[in-house]
Amino acid sequence: MTGIPSEVAEPAVERLRAAGLDPAALPRHLAVIMDGNGRWARARGLPRIAGHRKGADAVRDLVTHCAEFGLQYLTLYSFSSENWKRPLAEVEGLMGLLRRYLQSEIDTLDRQNIRFRVIGARGRLSADIQTLIAKAEAQTARNSGLTLVLALSYGAREEITLAVQTLATAVRDGRLAVDQIDEAAIAAALSTPDIPDPDVVLRTSGEQRLSNFMLWQAAYAEFIFTDTLWPDFDKAALIAALRTYAQRDRRFGGVDG
Ligand code: IPE
Ligand code: IPE
Ligand code: MG
Repeated sequence: MTGIPSEVAEPAVERLRAAGLDPAALPRHLAVIMDGNGRWARARGLPRIAGHRKGADAVRDLVTHCAEFGLQYLTLYSFSSENWKRPLAEVEGLMGLLRRYLQSEIDTLDRQNIRFRVIGARGRLSADIQTLIAKAEAQTARNSGLTLVLALSYGAREEITLAVQTLATAVRDGRLAVDQIDEAAIAAALSTPDIPDPDVVLRTSGEQRLSNFMLWQAAYAEFIFTDTLWPDFDKAALIAALRTYAQRDRRFGGVDG
């Protein structure tokens, strides 16, 4: 990892250096499995939704820090395809927080030059939330700073299944030959055709699993697990994770150096 990416603007470089971070060793794409909201609330005798509310505050702060550090891509696993199994009241609480986030944050994201994107089965979300998402994506589409990807109603197996259907349909219709199905064709049929693979998958709350997150894209990601519960994940925790990443030796099957 040598050379400062030209995309990392000068103020970002200053901020990184001030935080003791090497701008040349910054991940291009940080993906976060934000876990532990429920346990954060339970430890305080509060309802689970209080943890989700505090978790949403942590999201706002993280997005700002990542944009200020000049990170290019941040993906946040916000609601999985499996999370629909949760009690209706919790699902509705989470959707309420999402609605409020979309209503109140998008102008701020836009001012921060952030491009907003959603991956996942958005058709399962309520119509008004789908409209807010479409509006947010359109409003911020031409921004050139951080790309913020929310994984909502997202499941990697579902994503891969849809990609297989897309490719099979193209073969059936004579638009694609079987031997044209290569890794690039599969990647292009996923929900992230224009987003580089995550360099880091970070999971909070001590759990060490992917929970159906980016199974294809995370093939060579560095995994960072921290016991910190998501609502407590602050700027210091982000800096610690970025330092851990900078110390990793990524060999991609090759040899050192
Ligand atoms: C993460 O926190 C938020 C979502 C999965 C939506 P959890 O709600 O999973 O919190 P724990 O794992 O129960 O502590
Ligand atoms: C993973 O967390 C999904 C999100 C963070 C959105 P979960 O809390 O749902 O995962 P499991 O059930 O512990 O695997
Ligand atoms: Mg959890």
